[in-house]
Formats: sequence, structure tokens, C-alpha cells
Amino acid sequence: MSPGLSAASVTEAAPAKLNLYLHVVGRRADGYHLLDSLVAFAEHGDELRAAPAADLSLALDGPFAAALAGEADNLVLRAARTLRDKAKGPGAALSLTKNLPVASGIGGGSADAAAALRALCRLWAASGEGLAELALTLGADVPVCLHGAPSYMGGVGEDIAPAPALPPVGLVLINPLLPLPTPQVFAARARLNAGGGFSAPARFTESPRDAEALAACLAGRRNDLEPAAIALMPQIAPVLEALAASPGCRLARMSGSGATCFAIYDDKAVADTAAAWIVRRHSGWWIKPTRLAVR
Ligand code: C5P
Repeated sequence: MSPGLSAASVTEAAPAKLNLYLHVVGRRADGYHLLDSLVAFAEHGDELRAAPAADLSLALDGPFAAALAGEADNLVLRAARTLRDKAKGPGAALSLTKNLPVASGIGGGSADAAAALRALCRLWAASGEGLAELALTLGADVPVCLHGAPSYMGGVGEDIAPAPALPPVGLVLINPLLPLPTPQVFAARARLNAGGGFSAPARFTESPRDAEALAACLAGRRNDLEPAAIALMPQIAPVLEALAASPGCRLARMSGSGATCFAIYDDKAVADTAAAWIVRRHSGWWIKPTRLAVR
């Protein structure tokens, strides 16, 4: 084995990211939007492994691997190259099990890039210094995915603060299996609001005890990107309607820039029943019951 290569391979989870609420609070001179969002993670997600190797490579498997296979410059490889240049690391054989739909508002690409940074820091025994800044250069959601715990996200994504403790509620995630690129949604929102129409930040400090209390906290908050996303992709509206009508649903909302939507239930068993109820009524959607990951 070459010097600098560690013997063992490492595995990192890349969980789906959910914006429990997302307020657009302003816009910078460079066009990027200032956000206030409560970000949390689902138990379901992608998985990234890194093994010692002389060169950098990425192998893909899993149900959504084909959607990424044609991409010449995958965000995982970009993250790996950027960290290698900074940490003077060797190579690594990366493999990604792609369980999450792509371009779908649940941070799949960002979570994968964050998992690659974490895995390579472990593999190369590299210091984590400057990693958050490096993460931001890869995408606005990468810093919060690197942090990996429920957080308030501010700025354009770089300002991460701890969220109150959240309950381990049941979730159903649904994607209509249509990709929706983030820049288009922000641009559509700017057009719809004539460059203005900003919300106030809406952070809360109480720790909701259960799904009912969490839904009550979130009910007065929104995802400000929902109207723009639905204008671009009307197929999101029936997804939200199906979630809202499912038995036991406490709250249904879109995540990020869409098109994935989520609903909150009392626990995983209720979410399983709701998912089965939706599966019986709709075909052609990706429907995943899971749980909110809490510390
Ligand atoms: O950083 P990321 O690649 O996720 O962002 C994709 C695009 O979404 C940006 O190029 C920008 O057009 C838009 N965006 C934004 N404000 C943010 C995050 C993203 O306007 N806070």
C-alpha cells in the first residue's frame, strides 16, 4: 500500500434533506436568494463508500443510478477533486448507491457531495478545517448536508445554526419522477414576484413534542418556492393533494425547489399505511415512507 492510503474503506450516509419550511427573505446583488429554512433529514437516502486507490473514480448503482450515468461532471467527483487539491490526498475509489431521485429538492446531489467530503476526510485522515467554506463552493445546500443534523439555514445556505429538538415523526416522500432544476424555480419565483415579495424569517425556539405539535409550528410557515415550482410543473399539485388526503397526514409541503413533497405523520407505522393508501390510487410516482432522523 502506498504511503498516505489507509487500509479500510469507509461508508457515509447521504440522507434526503427536507426543508420543513423555506422562506425567501431577500435577494443578493448577484441574484442569489437569501433564505430562512428549517432543514432536517430523513432516515432514507443514498449511500457513499470510499476505498483506497491511486486515482479518483466513481461507480454508480441503485435505482436512480442511470439518471446520473450520463453526467460528465458529477458533483461527487467535483467534491472529491476539490478536497484532493486542498488536502493533497491521494485518489479514492468512490461508489454511490443512488436511492433518491435526482434534481428533486431533497438535496440528493448535495447530500452525496457532503458524504464524499466526510468519507474522504476519514479515508485520508484530512483535517476538517475550511471544509464548510469548500462545501459552499459546491452548492448552497452542501454546508447543511455536511452538518447533517436538524438546522436553521440562513444566508444563501452558509449560515447554519442548531434547530430545536424535533420529534422522530413518520414521513412519506413523493416525487412525480420529473426533474425540476433549482435555477429555473428561483428564476420563476423572481418573475412571479417582480423581484420582491420577500417573507420574514420565522425561526421558533420551542421543541415540538410530537407530530401534532410540529405540524402546528410549521402550519404558519411555508415553502415560498411552492407557487413557482407548481407554475413550472403542475404535476406537483396532485402530489400535495394526495399527501394531504392520506390517512393520518398532519401536514403536507414541498421540499426545497421541488418537485419532491413530504407529509408528516404520528409515526412510521402511520406513514407506512398512508404510503400504501397513496400507492393504491396513483401510479408512476416515487413514494417512500420513512422517518425524520433526529439526534
Ligand atoms: O447552489 P446551487 O447549485 O444549489 O444553486 C442552484 C441555483 O439556484 C443557483 O445558481 C441560483 O440560481 C439558485 N439559488 C438561489 N439562491 C440560493 C440557492 C440557489 O438563487 N440561496
